[in-house]
Amino acid sequence: MSLSVIILAAGKGTRMKSELPKVLHKIANKPLLAHVYDAAKKLGAEEIAIVYGHGGIAVKNACDDFEALWIEQTEQLGTGHAVKQAINEIKQDNTVLVLYGDVPLTTTDTLKQLLSADRDEIGLLTVELENPFGYGRIIRNAENLVTGIIEQKDATEQQQQIKEVNSGILCCKASLLNRLLQNINNNNSQGEYYLTDIFELAASQGITIATTICENSFEVEGVNNRNQLAALERIYQQRMAYKLMEQGVTIIDPTRIDIRGEVNIENDVTLDINVILEGNVNIGKGTVISSNSIIKNSDIGENVTILENCVIENSTIEHSCNIGPFARIRPDTVMKANAKIGNFVEVKKSVIGEGSKVNHLSYIGDTEMGADVNIGAGTITCNYDGAYKHKTTIGDKVFIGSDTQLVAPVTVREGVTIGAGTTVTKDVEAEVLVISRAPQKTIKGWQRPKKDK
Ligand code: UD1
Ligand code: CA
Repeated sequence: MSLSVIILAAGKGTRMKSELPKVLHKIANKPLLAHVYDAAKKLGAEEIAIVYGHGGIAVKNACDDFEALWIEQTEQLGTGHAVKQAINEIKQDNTVLVLYGDVPLTTTDTLKQLLSADRDEIGLLTVELENPFGYGRIIRNAENLVTGIIEQKDATEQQQQIKEVNSGILCCKASLLNRLLQNINNNNSQGEYYLTDIFELAASQGITIATTICENSFEVEGVNNRNQLAALERIYQQRMAYKLMEQGVTIIDPTRIDIRGEVNIENDVTLDINVILEGNVNIGKGTVISSNSIIKNSDIGENVTILENCVIENSTIEHSCNIGPFARIRPDTVMKANAKIGNFVEVKKSVIGEGSKVNHLSYIGDTEMGADVNIGAGTITCNYDGAYKHKTTIGDKVFIGSDTQLVAPVTVREGVTIGAGTTVTKDVEAEVLVISRAPQKTIKGWQRPKKDK
């Protein structure tokens, strides 16, 4: 079965009170529309048509990596009208699935179940709500077959008691939906072309409406305001946390963790509270990430210890490294196995060699460091001359005393010892001591300046 998906994303989203189009607001740092697009992709959709609204060019620009057919609905005349704009643009023999750009958390399993409806039926996703106010109600006959959907504003008091509601999500053969859409009108309380009117038409023509009743209401909940956005964000995060715990990850408090991307975490990893993982993050077995640490687009090996309040971005940390607390590892850093970056250390675009240590208060940038190097507290690689960045190369087993400046470009060969307080401006040959320090003076009887009375 070939699938085409139409995503409706033309709504104004007035209640968001935002300059940003509603479908670009984010859950887990990803636009709502991207969640829906990804769901369509996961189902193997052959074509994806996105109906966007007037002024929605921002949506198109923000999602220019989508392989989608963008269709503008210049006037928002209703959901039926919106689908009508797209229906002729897709393959008529395909099954069409209608999704909503502001309903981000529908699972692939639920959609697959919906799509298992017969080719000559219409599949409809419904849900039972304790408080169905505002939703279209599902009307069933004595045989429990769906005969139509009535919108809140058009419903009688009796119909308003119905708790089974329309999610809006439906599927059927594209040509069938096309044919039914030709016959809907806007004779209703809102003067809109309702997509939901196709159900009564279909039922009257003897077409079966196969409902899938969704267990979890969050799967069909839309975002209309920032409260709902925050609520769905929490549900998303809770689901991610439970999924990880099922895979053997220890999460100290599943309500205090945020996963904002694609993560791959091996078992026996521990994630403490307020850890944020963003983008593509891989974490090996036995690694511990302490509270308030943020890891973006990085590979963290096995048995790594990351202490509190670290920020690690676009970097590779090999096994058994120690980081933090309060360390910042900036992009393009590689920490080889057993390396250590301590507190208040910033590292950028550098290789920290195997077993090497930068324990306190240092800046290491554009540096290639060998193995078993010891960098003393307060050491700075002066990598920037105001116009260009330059490289520092440090050989194996170098020992650098505290408060050293390495003025790049500079190379310090293996086994060198650098005395505390040295400013290294020239390359240093292997196995020597280098020191640049003004001789210490002693002035006896020194009087400190005093203020006049
Ligand atoms: C719709 C359904 C209702 C269902 C509810 C579920 C209709 C007539 N009603 O009601 O049965 O219970 O969703 O949330 O379909 N849109 C466009 N162009 C338009 C109008 C809407 O793209 O001209 C998009 C909106 O951006 C939104 C979606 O369609 O993503 C739903 O539209 P909305 O106006 O929110 O419909 P509801 O009144 O909530
Ligand atoms: Ca809505």
